[in-house]
Amino acid sequence: MEPKEVAFCNMEWRIGNFVAVRLQGLFKEVDGMADFFAEFRGDHRWVMQTLLEVQRALEQRQWERALELVEALDRATGPHMEFEEKHLYPEFVPLVGQERVQEMLNDHGGAAQILQRVKGRLRQGALSDEEVAALKGDLQRFLRHAADCEGSALLAEALPPERIEELGRLLVSLRATGRPLTVYRGVAAAQD
Ligand SMILES: [Fe+2]
Repeated sequence: MEPKEVAFCNMEWRIGNFVAVRLQGLFKEVDGMADFFAEFRGDHRWVMQTLLEVQRALEQRQWERALELVEALDRATGPHMEFEEKHLYPEFVPLVGQERVQEMLNDHGGAAQILQRVKGRLRQGALSDEEVAALKGDLQRFLRHAADCEGSALLAEALPPERIEELGRLLVSLRATGRPLTVYRGVAAAQD
C-alpha cells in the first residue's frame, strides 16, 4: 500500500504543480497586458492631477511651486509622447486613418509649445491676474489633450496581446531617456 500512496501523492503533486505552472503562465500573460494599460492610463491620470495642482498653485500665487510642477510635467510627458509617436500611433493608422493620427501628432506639438510658454512666463516671477487667467487657459488646453489621449487606450485594446505586452515594455524603457517634451519636440534647448 505504501508505494501506491506515495505514487498517488506524487501524482497529485504533479497535477497540482502542472495546474500551478499553467496558472502562473496565464497570470503572467494577463499581467503583461495589464502592465501597459496600467502604465499608460497611470501617466494620463498623473498628468491630469499635476495640471490641477498647477492651477491651484497659480491661484495661491505660489509661482515657484507652479514652475516646479510644470517642469515635472515636461519631463514626464516627453517619454510618454515619444512612445506614442514612435510606437503606439503608427498602430492606429489602420483603425482611425492617417489624417486622425496626424491630428494626434500635431496635438503633441501644441502641448510642447504650451509647456514652453508657461515655463518661460513662470521663470520671470510674479504674474498679474490677467496672466494667471491666460496660463490657466493654456493648462486647460493641455488637459484636453490628456483626456483625448485616454481614447488611445481604448484603441490599443484592438491590438494583439503580444504587441500590447511589447508596448508596455517600450513605454517603461523610454522613461529612462528622461528627455523633456519641449526638448524632444524641439521647442527648447536641452539645457532649458
Ligand atoms: Fe498619452
